[in-house]
Amino acid sequence: MTLVNAGILGTGHSYPAGILTNADLETMVETSDEWIISRTGIKQRRKAAPGEYTSQFAVRASQEAIERAGIDPSEIDLILCATVTPDQILPSTACLIQAQLGASKAAAMDIVAACSGFLYGLTLANPMIRTGQIKYALVIGAELLTRYVDYTDRSTCILFGDGAGAALVGPVEEDRGILAARIRSDGRYEEQLFAPGGGTKGGFTAETIARGDHFFKMKGNEVFKVAVRSMSEIARGVLAEAGLKTEDVDLFIPHQANQRITDAVANALNVDEARVFSNIAKHGNTSSASIPIGLDECVESGRIKKDDIVLMASFGGGFTWGSVVMRW
Ligand code: ACO
Repeated sequence: MTLVNAGILGTGHSYPAGILTNADLETMVETSDEWIISRTGIKQRRKAAPGEYTSQFAVRASQEAIERAGIDPSEIDLILCATVTPDQILPSTACLIQAQLGASKAAAMDIVAACSGFLYGLTLANPMIRTGQIKYALVIGAELLTRYVDYTDRSTCILFGDGAGAALVGPVEEDRGILAARIRSDGRYEEQLFAPGGGTKGGFTAETIARGDHFFKMKGNEVFKVAVRSMSEIARGVLAEAGLKTEDVDLFIPHQANQRITDAVANALNVDEARVFSNIAKHGNTSSASIPIGLDECVESGRIKKDDIVLMASFGGGFTWGSVVMRW
């Protein structure tokens, strides 16, 4: 069987116009701009207006990615939408996106892997393209996290923002594209970061809503420690698999969870600040959307150049984590 490499042919991103600043949060909970910046690096985040929903931003990001890849939506074989904040329970947000794009022959499904969802999508699309089972996959990360944030809980409400990013993945020349990819999970950590309401276990009643069971709950300190360890380990693993060293990395795009997590992982990997991407100050934590938004911002600004080695790593609720290394 002839194997072809899979790479990113086009990227796009989109987010709501509404901005929630640290000053806004100071009027809502007992916190301060100084505390939020020093503990997280976040200055503002995007917040969708009432009536806006996840697939709208995903479609805009996807249209940009498809256009830049220079293909027609009817050529897409697979749409994977990573989201923990879908438009609705059924059908999947990916199906709603498929219809809006007019991707007439695409299979479509959602990936529920929290902040690691986009890297889960890249990792799953990779072998399907490599083996020729499909030619083009659209991998999206899209979240309206602010809908599931309890704005009376200062430990979580300062972190999360809304947005979407997309990547059109397809065959590329030999030695280019995805060089190694790994994804992992450990569900024993369920209650470190979770939203218990809304499903068959927690239920969805007036009582569960009044109790706020649908809001994200997090033991931030615990998440922090496991996130740093897991992201560093898995990133080292994919680099080794690709026969690369951390010195070879031109750009490291970690999931934007917290600037201190990014700094700690970069430090553990020995990647200096100049090679580490961060946009957390303006977007906060957008879960599965953070890496594809980051990728697209780097493409638009010219920070990613042809032949660059780009390392990505993520960690999120589940727990889930993953890492992908590519030659651009
Ligand atoms: N403003 C002011 N004080 C606050 C705030 C706030 N917004 N939030 C917490 N504090 C207080 C706490 O009450 C505590 O006070 P105490 O010492 O009197 O008890 C103190 O600050 C320290 O609290 P910690 O929770 O220990 O603070 P920490 O430095 O760990 O920062 C944070 C908290 C920002 C949540 C951090 O732990 C973090 O970012 N963790 C990782 C979270 C993460 O990345 N989660 C997302 C994964 S992504 C996904 O899957 C969606």
